[in-house]
Amino acid sequence: MNAATRGNLDFYESFAPLYPAVYGLFDTGEMVMQWLRILEDEGFVASKAKRNEQSPHLLDAACGPGNFLAAWAEAGFDVTGVDFSSTMLRLAADEWKRVRPNQPSRLFQANLCEPDSIAEWRGSFDFVVSHSHLPNLIHPEDLPALFQSVSNCLRIGGSWVVDHSRIVATLPVGQEQHSVSSTIKLLRISDFDEVQRRCIQSWAGPDFRGREVYWFPELTDLDTIALQHQLKLRRRVEWLPNRQAEPFREVQASTERLLSIYGKV
Ligand SMILES: C[S@@+](CC[C@H](N)C(=O)[O-])C[C@H]1O[C@@H](n2cnc3c(N)ncnc32)[C@H](O)[C@@H]1O
Repeated sequence: MNAATRGNLDFYESFAPLYPAVYGLFDTGEMVMQWLRILEDEGFVASKAKRNEQSPHLLDAACGPGNFLAAWAEAGFDVTGVDFSSTMLRLAADEWKRVRPNQPSRLFQANLCEPDSIAEWRGSFDFVVSHSHLPNLIHPEDLPALFQSVSNCLRIGGSWVVDHSRIVATLPVGQEQHSVSSTIKLLRISDFDEVQRRCIQSWAGPDFRGREVYWFPELTDLDTIALQHQLKLRRRVEWLPNRQAEPFREVQASTERLLSIYGKV
């Protein structure tokens, strides 16, 4: 595995205790409903009534602190989560216990860039979902391993639903303050490396310093790697989660935030 991918894994492990305070404001239930809407409209998932009779098996790949797990379970899916960060997984277990106290959680630690580590899940899932731009967090050298892992987990005909970003106009540069409590703030500084087409994000607060890297692979490269791992692009749209009435539209030259649905062939 590339050292920079490893660096991101270490970053998320140390950032995990702060993650809910920094990113906890998203309406994860609404986001899941939006993804479900497109899956239903495109005929990629059974209706809610059918899902209640037989729940499709869904893996949240890189589930982090588990913010999306309960919403998928509520929508009629049999949910499993996987992440590399043990601290993220502890938060996910607590969150699951809070919202679904009578159901045991299924949460596992694995590195999605090491397909052999999840070999026992071969063909086990109807859906894999990855929220919050997982492909951008992986060094391009390790993308084939990520696609291999996802492909291995899916049964033939299953789908991987994943959001990701590209850079078109707005370079991800600048500074922003994030409150993690009434008194503690984190400063995020984003810088773009034009040569390697990567964004380096540094975080600094009273007790925390960390650095994560985002890469922006070309869509054609992603789709080529996908096909090499039996994943065929079924649908790609621009995703605008804040436009609740119409969160999707066709991809345009200016589209930066995408939702891709790959099918296992
Ligand atoms: C931006 S967070 C997103 C968490 C969650 N999906 C969400 O949207 O709230 C990225 C997560 O991906 C996990 N991750 C990154 N690379 C991974 C890998 N190779 N294998 C497993 N987990 C990974 C990190 O540990 C972290 O929890």
